[in-house]
Amino acid sequence: MRKPMVAGNWKMNGTRSSVITLVDFLKQHIKKTINIDVVVLPSFIHISQVEALLVGTPISWGAQNLYIGSQGAFTGEVAGPMLRDYGCKYVLVGHSERRLVLNENLQLVATKFKTALEFGLQPILCVGETLAERQKGQTERVIQQQLQSVIDFAGLESFRHAIIAYEPVWAIGTGQTATPQQAQDVHQFIRQLFSKQDTNLSNLLRILYGGSVKADNAASLFAMPDIDGGLVGGASLEAKGFLDIVKAAEQKKVEA
Ligand code: PGA
Repeated sequence: MRKPMVAGNWKMNGTRSSVITLVDFLKQHIKKTINIDVVVLPSFIHISQVEALLVGTPISWGAQNLYIGSQGAFTGEVAGPMLRDYGCKYVLVGHSERRLVLNENLQLVATKFKTALEFGLQPILCVGETLAERQKGQTERVIQQQLQSVIDFAGLESFRHAIIAYEPVWAIGTGQTATPQQAQDVHQFIRQLFSKQDTNLSNLLRILYGGSVKADNAASLFAMPDIDGGLVGGASLEAKGFLDIVKAAEQKKVEA
């Protein structure tokens, strides 16, 4: 059984007061979650505030990044145990903005993934191709490489405690969403990659779609059989829109 998930990636946005407004609205409208995980991923600086606001509610929180290791001389970085200390349950790993803007390579992403698990955080591993890669017909090759490097380093079994997010780079923040069928094709490819090695694992693996998910396209994306919810950027900053995306995911029939 795969429980749908909607996670809001706030990226480098928010102020002390906008966080209160957004989280208060979500708290008011999401009093209990029906067969769905709802998660917010604030910037590091807002995590403690979000923890105070959300503790005891059905909404979980996590971080957008972590560094490898448990502590030490890594100026400017944040470690997994620090995130756990503030109640984080999830952490994004390998988001395309980190791969492409912050130059995180395959090995660093794989190491972060394993580190997250070591410290009791569920990694949400983001994979996705650029527009140029899609146009050259390299989508599947790129996704496979991004996943295989993590499988090789952390082991297949580790994916029992992880979530994958397929986020085509060309759809992130551009307003250009993948069509439900385009997304489904890649999600199915990802699931098949795992089912070749372990059918039980592949049936349980949650694969979220990310890239310009909005209230008006969420339902058609989530209706696809291999799309288990969404990783939402821009639209997660708008309380009502995010709530509508959560409602769309609640409508999804839980896959057996
Ligand atoms: P977007 O971002 O919804 O603004 O396209 C998604 C993401 O980067 O996680």
